[in-house]
Formats: sequence, structure tokens, C-alpha cells
Amino acid sequence: MAKTVKRVHNFYSGPAALPLSILQQAQAELLDFNGTGMSIMEISHRSKDYEAVHNRAIELLKELLGIPAGYDVLFLQGGASLQFAMVPMNFLAPGKKAGYVMTGTWAEKAYAQAEKLGEVFIAASAKEGNYRRIPSPGELNYGPDTAYLHITSNNTIFGTQWQSFPETGAVPLIADMSSDILSKPFDVSKFALIYAGAQKNLGPAGVTVVIIRHDLLDRANKKVPTMLRYETYAKDNSLYNTPPTFNIYMVSLMLAWVKEQGGLAALHRRNQEKAALVYDAIDASNGFYVGHAQPDVRSLMNITFRLANEDLEKKFLDAAKQAGFVGLAGHRSVGGCRASAYNAVPYESCLALRELMFTFQKENW
Ligand SMILES: Cc1ncc(COP(=O)(O)O)c(C=O)c1O
Repeated sequence: MAKTVKRVHNFYSGPAALPLSILQQAQAELLDFNGTGMSIMEISHRSKDYEAVHNRAIELLKELLGIPAGYDVLFLQGGASLQFAMVPMNFLAPGKKAGYVMTGTWAEKAYAQAEKLGEVFIAASAKEGNYRRIPSPGELNYGPDTAYLHITSNNTIFGTQWQSFPETGAVPLIADMSSDILSKPFDVSKFALIYAGAQKNLGPAGVTVVIIRHDLLDRANKKVPTMLRYETYAKDNSLYNTPPTFNIYMVSLMLAWVKEQGGLAALHRRNQEKAALVYDAIDASNGFYVGHAQPDVRSLMNITFRLANEDLEKKFLDAAKQAGFVGLAGHRSVGGCRASAYNAVPYESCLALRELMFTFQKENW
């Protein structure tokens, strides 16, 4: 009989929940990958067995996101945080300015790195009121000669998410999609570059996915050191040096799982249903729970809310822990609670959270 696995309700913001089935597949293949008599971790990155995994991950990502011709999918290391520096190193030419839309802590961090490397400006900011909203397209202030416009599609800490993306014409649009890539369909062709650390919707931490349009590669600064140039990865199919092979293998399993679930449209519907379970509990609470994000820009991935005071929040988090929930404490810059309901978080976990919220409210109102 199969051993029952004890799994908690995992609402961590990242690294975050992975589907049980892919963990089990990785476990089953750990000692002998595909009849090779080796673990995927022990196989040369120059071997056919590994290359098939690597290329499968790229193909699946292209298929699932509908990436048009003229883009490359790259695997890098250094997390999304290294992208904060690589983007300006490669694309912020002297005499040009890059625009940043400030929608949270990660946008601030991206801006701070670019500021060290060239001229930057704030194209719009939602800082006032502690990042509860997303600037409207009309608020974005940048000229046609802007080097690029940088946005953060989902603000992991504050729980806001862009509902539609700006049309930037000839100005390259660059997005940090670390916390919502693969959560819903979107038009990749609007973007010149997209980057995402893997540890939310793509797999375990340790690999960063970059999707880059070819014309941007041609414009890149050629003086940047080899490992910090996108061109290095694009030229050699991300095999210039040893890539994080196990992580890319896990990404390939995760992408196959996304496809099995019905792709992005199906996952989007499920993510909407899951998030609605928790947002409804907030909205029906008569102010017992107060959402941080403005309702029109609520994130489907990170649901942020407060209770009346820190003592009550602590009591709620203690009750959650007792009931088998993890990762519900909010980030210190917002406080309160945050439920991260990425693709792999089951509907049942969101339902259980909703019930916990109702019960806790009844007992503590
Ligand atoms: C939107 C966003 N950008 C960037 C980062 C930083 O990613 P990393 O730790 O991979 O550098 C995070 C991490 O949570 C994030 O949520």
C-alpha cells in the first residue's frame, strides 16, 4: 500500500509549495534517471540525456506562454536579484535613461541597482499609502527615448498585481514576473524582456528564467563581462557553462504539470477560484480582516490582510500553525498576514484557510 504523505497547508511566499506529483516523480527518478543508471544530478550537461531535459523545459515554456518567434528562453543563476543589475548593465546605455514603475519593495530594489549603473527615473509610483495600488496607464510618465520601462507584474510583499500591461510602443518593456509567471495567460509580444526567479511558480530556487527578444540582444552593451551578458546564454542555449541542471530538470517537471492541468487558462480559472475563497472571507468579515491591496488590483498569488491589532494577528497565526498551516505571516513592511496561493497550492488549502478565518472570527469577534 502506498505510504500516505503528511503535507501541510503551505502558503509560503517562496520558496513555495510544489505539486506532490512532481516531487514524487523526482523521488522515483532520483537514483536512476530514464534508465541511465545515474541521477540527473550526476549526468554531464553536455550529454544527450541532459540536453533532452533542458530543451524540453524550453519548448514547454514556449508552448505554455505562447512565446512568439524572435525570442529566446534562457536559464541563469543569481535569482531575480541579479537581474536587477544585469538589465541595466546590458541595456542602460550612456546618455539614455531607464524608467521604473515603483509598485513595491522589489521594484525599489531593481531601481536601486540600476541607479548605480546609469541614469534612471521614476515613471510612476504607488509608494504613497504603502503600495496598495498599481499606477494607471495614464500615470506613466516617460519619453520615447527611454532606454526601457521596468515593471513588477506582481508585488509579492504588498499583494498587488497588474491587471493589464501598458502599451509602450518602441520603448522596450521589461518585467520582473517572479511571483506570477504561469499564473494566467498574457501577451508575451508586449515585452522585450521578462525575468522570473523559479521559486514560486516554476520550481525550486536556484534557476532564473529569462525570456528575451532578439533585437534587444543586438543593442546590448558588449563590454559587460561574459557571465553577465544575456548574449552569452542566448548564443549557447544557456550551456556556455554548467547550468543548474537539477533545477532545470525540476522546472521541466513543473512545466509538464502545468500542461497536464490544462495550461494557463485553466490555471488562471483555478487561481481565481482559490483567491476568491480567501478574499471573500476578508470582504464578508465586516472589517475583522482588512485587505491591504485596493480591490481592483488584488493579486491572485499573494493575499495580504491585517487584523485589528498585532496581538490578534499573533493569535490568528498561532491558531493557523496549530491547524497545520505554514507561511501565513506577512512581510514586516506590511505586517499582518499573507497567503501565497501559487499554482501548486491546492484549492483545498485555500478552502481550509477560509474556514479557519471564519472560525477564528466567530471565536474572537
Ligand atoms: C517579485 C520579486 N522579485 C524579485 C525577488 C527576488 O528574488 P531572488 O530571491 O530570486 O533574487 C522576489 C523574491 O521573492 C520577488 O518576489
